[in-house]
Amino acid sequence: MSTDAPVDWTELAPQLVDAARRDRNWYLMIARELVAPGDRLAVDVGCGAAGMSLAIARMMTCGRVVAVDAHQTVLDAARDHISAEWSDRRVRIEPLRVDIPAETAALREALDAPADLVWASASVHHAGDQQAAVTALAGLLAPGGRLALAEGGLPDRHLPWDVGLGEPGLEVRLHAAQDRWFARMRAELPDSRRMPYGWTEALRHAGLSPVTTRTALDEQPAPLPDTIRWAVVEALAGRVSRLRPTGLLSAADLDAWDHLLDPAGKEWLGHRGDLFRLSARSVHLGVHP
Ligand SMILES: C[S@@+](CC[C@H](N)C(=O)[O-])C[C@H]1O[C@@H](n2cnc3c(N)ncnc32)[C@H](O)[C@@H]1O
Repeated sequence: MSTDAPVDWTELAPQLVDAARRDRNWYLMIARELVAPGDRLAVDVGCGAAGMSLAIARMMTCGRVVAVDAHQTVLDAARDHISAEWSDRRVRIEPLRVDIPAETAALREALDAPADLVWASASVHHAGDQQAAVTALAGLLAPGGRLALAEGGLPDRHLPWDVGLGEPGLEVRLHAAQDRWFARMRAELPDSRRMPYGWTEALRHAGLSPVTTRTALDEQPAPLPDTIRWAVVEALAGRVSRLRPTGLLSAADLDAWDHLLDPAGKEWLGHRGDLFRLSARSVHLGVHP
């Protein structure tokens, strides 16, 4: 990963805070399963607004959670979120600016001990060389320590297949465009390499065993409460606006989205009672033998 990656994390920092708040219960559920009673040192790599750092801290009885991110603006947002949510001095949450994998040695030094748990959600895929990043993170673990990668799963779904505007399948095509954007983003990363195998293999190549995967369904059926419905609309608007300049969405689809995302229009998605949230997220876990 590099700080000049083709994503503007400074601009995205507010969205990372919204995501951390939205995903609070999911983080708690996963942290409850991941954190072992004796864990004293955990690391959240590419922490965003530190939603998972907070969840891990809530499951520990004492020790430290080091919330690592390469981008200072994101880390500032994480720090604010931590201050607002955390005051228990038995577990410290320490934000730390580190670029992974380039600055792994500095992270190891700051940790000052091998880690019991390293968590990385949607961050390793921003590394040009993903295998190098996974191997670097595995190298932070104590014997018996666990590296958990939240990567993959299924894309979030929110809309009925036919929303009544444009061709049916609007959200499916949005995902397809996002997928192509993702491929471009990866190709433009410094030191970009393909990793032509799955995350479980990457964990094995890093010397971890056993390796397991757990996929959790995150479902909020229609009708959504107003705040969640508006958050869904905002998230879709954010995605459409990021994809608009790429040319990956057709003019007809953009026209349909413009109507659906216009709060002053009668087709605004925020008026719909049939919006839902459905996603499946995978966590791949490898253990340091
Ligand atoms: C998609 S966000 C995921 C945030 C959070 N982990 C989550 O799941 O909501 C990716 C995060 O990785 C961070 N990141 C990107 N490149 C990085 C790097 N080289 N080293 C550490 N963190 C990085 C970004 O700043 C961002 O906070």
